[in-house]
Amino acid sequence: MSHIRQLQLTLAILKPDIVAQPRVLKSVWTRMLENGLYFVLSKQVQLSAVQAEQFYAEHRGKFFQDRLVYFMSSGPVWCHILCGDNVIGRWRRMLGPTKVLKTVFDDPDSIRGSYGLTDTRNCAHGSDADDTARREVGFFFPEFNFEEWYEKQHHLFQNDLVDFDPDKMQHTAILDTTS
Ligand code: RTP
Ligand code: MG
Repeated sequence: MSHIRQLQLTLAILKPDIVAQPRVLKSVWTRMLENGLYFVLSKQVQLSAVQAEQFYAEHRGKFFQDRLVYFMSSGPVWCHILCGDNVIGRWRRMLGPTKVLKTVFDDPDSIRGSYGLTDTRNCAHGSDADDTARREVGFFFPEFNFEEWYEKQHHLFQNDLVDFDPDKMQHTAILDTTS
């Protein structure tokens, strides 16, 4: 019996190391699309050090905080609201484990295993749970309303009634041309 589950939403950030390399950026986007992830909203952002420090507030005081904040504000990032079945876990599995210097051996085909430079310059971010995803999406997309999206957009994505627009890096609803 088929049972259609509610699609999940998450925040992906393609970090400055990836965005600085156009061919790598493109191949990460291709992997995401080939994996069936939907792009609900996308924007390029230049974080200030203060914003990067706020976003990673959970890491305040850790030994890598300064290099993390410096790195995340060193150039533009791409932020994407992704949706899909179990997308939080799927996107994090695609990324591979955090620590690149180990991941290149343990999970070499993952995104971090393929393109990561150091344990800090590790390509991309993915929210780790539903509540974190809500908070992190709100950080970059304060205009995004989860309830309204589930009410008005969710069924379109669930039924694959969307097309990918490469200029916006977003999936948008297929317009009904029959009426
Ligand atoms: P993220 O939050 O970026 O998705 O990564 P994560 O959950 O896999 O890893 P987390 O422990 O939350 O660490 C956040 C980011 O801090 C940088 N980092 N550098 N030893 C180091 O130099 C080190 N450890 C962590 C990475 O950019 C990591 O993604
Ligand atoms: Mg994390």
